[in-house]
Amino acid sequence: MPLTEHAVWLRDKAIDRLRNVLFGVLRAGPIPQHVAFIMDGNRRYARSNGMKLIQGHVDGFTALRRVLEICSSLNIKVVSVYAFAIDNFQRPKEEVDGLMNLAERALLELCSHGGILAEHGVRLNTVGRTQLFPPEVQAALNKAKELTKNNKRSVLNLCMPYSSRDEIANAVEESVQNALLEGRIECVVVHKDIEDRLMTAKVNTPPLDILIRTSGVKRLSDYLLWQCTENTQIHFVDTFWPDMGLVDLLPIILDYQRKIWAQ
Ligand code: IPE
Ligand code: MG
Repeated sequence: MPLTEHAVWLRDKAIDRLRNVLFGVLRAGPIPQHVAFIMDGNRRYARSNGMKLIQGHVDGFTALRRVLEICSSLNIKVVSVYAFAIDNFQRPKEEVDGLMNLAERALLELCSHGGILAEHGVRLNTVGRTQLFPPEVQAALNKAKELTKNNKRSVLNLCMPYSSRDEIANAVEESVQNALLEGRIECVVVHKDIEDRLMTAKVNTPPLDILIRTSGVKRLSDYLLWQCTENTQIHFVDTFWPDMGLVDLLPIILDYQRKIWAQ
């Protein structure tokens, strides 16, 4: 029997209230400061739903909005997402063009008036070699950064085009150049020299508490390799990224809280 309009309204209101209670309970416990996502499985999601491949990426963007909203409701201060690997430029031209197009539109939507970044007070940072992107995408990124630069509640690190080995190699190179410039002939580079020059350090990112990869693939794929420390909890979930939501995030947050309480 189809629900009446009023019944649908009542049901949605009840779900909303339940969610708010749930978030309130979770927020009473320890909350991770920094959560990162390897958003994987867009194409397999599209294939398994009989959709065009690009629709998988479009729905992946919707999932990003959903996950950001959940993270914001939980007071997670920093979210980092692997939005585009340097390696992704090797994908078929049609897919890369589609992704660039989507990135431009998605960025403008994210930072628009009433968009999720403004609504939740999220500042957008980029982590990666953005100069490799087409000028329109670079312009959209700059606009999004400019429009959100005074947002204070939380931060979204868009890692794109990113590779951890590229980031580390770059940090080592800068450290050596700095040592030479300072006339340190022995050219000693210590751990902290590199750490301070990582792209994530340049945008003041706190230690990584949780890394989540979707789609059942158990690899780090050159993502935040340095940032994954002995305190980072790594989770692999089977859900394809476009289906990612509270059902998958909830057990991960509870697991984090259990581990903190057990310390
Ligand atoms: C991740 O999903 C999308 C990007 C971040 C570019 P994929 O495009 O890798 O989809 P699968 O893993 O092949 O299903
Ligand atoms: Mg993949």
